[in-house]
Amino acid sequence: MAVSTVQDMLTPEEKVWADETANKIKKKMEVVRERSAKKIPSAAMNGVHDDKAGEGKGKGGKAYWTNGFWAGIMWLMNDWTGEARYGEIARFTEEIMDECVLDFYGLDHDIGYMWIPSAVLDYKLTGDEDALRRGLLGANLLAGRFNPAGEYIRAWDGEAWEGFNTPGVPKMRTEGVAIIDCMLNLPLLYWAYEITGDPRFRIIARKHGDKVMRNFIREDGSVIHIVEFDPETGEFVRDYGGQGYGQGSSWTRGQAWGLYGFTSSYRHTNNREYLDTAKRIAAYFMANIPESGLIPSDFCQPKEPHVQDDIAAAAAACGLLQLAGAAQEESRSYVETAIKMLRAIDEKSADWSRETDGITLNGTMAYHTPGRNMNYVYGDYFFIEAVLKLKGQEVFVW
Ligand code: GLY
Repeated sequence: MAVSTVQDMLTPEEKVWADETANKIKKKMEVVRERSAKKIPSAAMNGVHDDKAGEGKGKGGKAYWTNGFWAGIMWLMNDWTGEARYGEIARFTEEIMDECVLDFYGLDHDIGYMWIPSAVLDYKLTGDEDALRRGLLGANLLAGRFNPAGEYIRAWDGEAWEGFNTPGVPKMRTEGVAIIDCMLNLPLLYWAYEITGDPRFRIIARKHGDKVMRNFIREDGSVIHIVEFDPETGEFVRDYGGQGYGQGSSWTRGQAWGLYGFTSSYRHTNNREYLDTAKRIAAYFMANIPESGLIPSDFCQPKEPHVQDDIAAAAAACGLLQLAGAAQEESRSYVETAIKMLRAIDEKSADWSRETDGITLNGTMAYHTPGRNMNYVYGDYFFIEAVLKLKGQEVFVW
């Protein structure tokens, strides 16, 4: 039986929308890339990209966790347009990020988000030897964060902290903390296994994925952001609302990380339990999408104030499109939902001016902290990845 691709599932009208939107991205990025060629942007403030490359070392600067996404945009555009200039700009980020490895402090489990869309994607597209070395170095650092007693990858370092200003939340012990976001760091380990044949990478990724499957996914298919385990035994201690509205709520970006992460883990392992988990998260997500197609920061947040997260929408759209290729039965509804969210951004939350640097206008870092309803580079990255998936320009990033 012929396997249908996402492109085969689109109506003619949806294909036109995908082509037109991809062309708008191209027209914008060919000027933005030059303005930001010597930057590592994390966000556009008043339409102008900030620059993490120009900041100091450490967590908030050169080791900032989203620093791989600008290079990721450049590599996706390079692959689609064939214009080598995009790749040259991506390499600037990769060279700057080398400093973070030696510095070491400031790196955490988001090594995956940093090196997958930059060096690993570079290697997949060009076979560059430096990119290979960078990706493998990152994979080894990520594997080193695995707690063998608890069978989870430790998310963050440092002293116990309260985290994200959620009212009334006790301090967590970071040695025991794992977060749902890490599901999309795991592809770095699966890639390292595929490259080296060393099963340690695959085993660590699988053990972490299994631990998350058992401890983060609720009965209704919704996902917890943060779980604290006892770092000596791996026993569940408690969970936290993290970047979402509160304990027991459903931070939408966390739902997206789980959905895309388990879909990716299924692609790398063929483990049906991961596929079923991704489908359960997808069903929960789809049942909670507002009529407008615009995604809130948390599915449990109050109606007012309006706190939107285009990053969650775009990342969930990527997950649904990937899932559509894997799950036979519900494929068309996954594609329809992804397109509904992407079109809502295009029509109501995108900036297509060539004078400004960001595309998606309403990302939210965390419900209770500043940084609501603004542009973030990873919102733009996932939006572009999703639109290119619809065009059949599929490169397996994650
Ligand atoms: N991984 C952190 C975030 O999604 O903001």
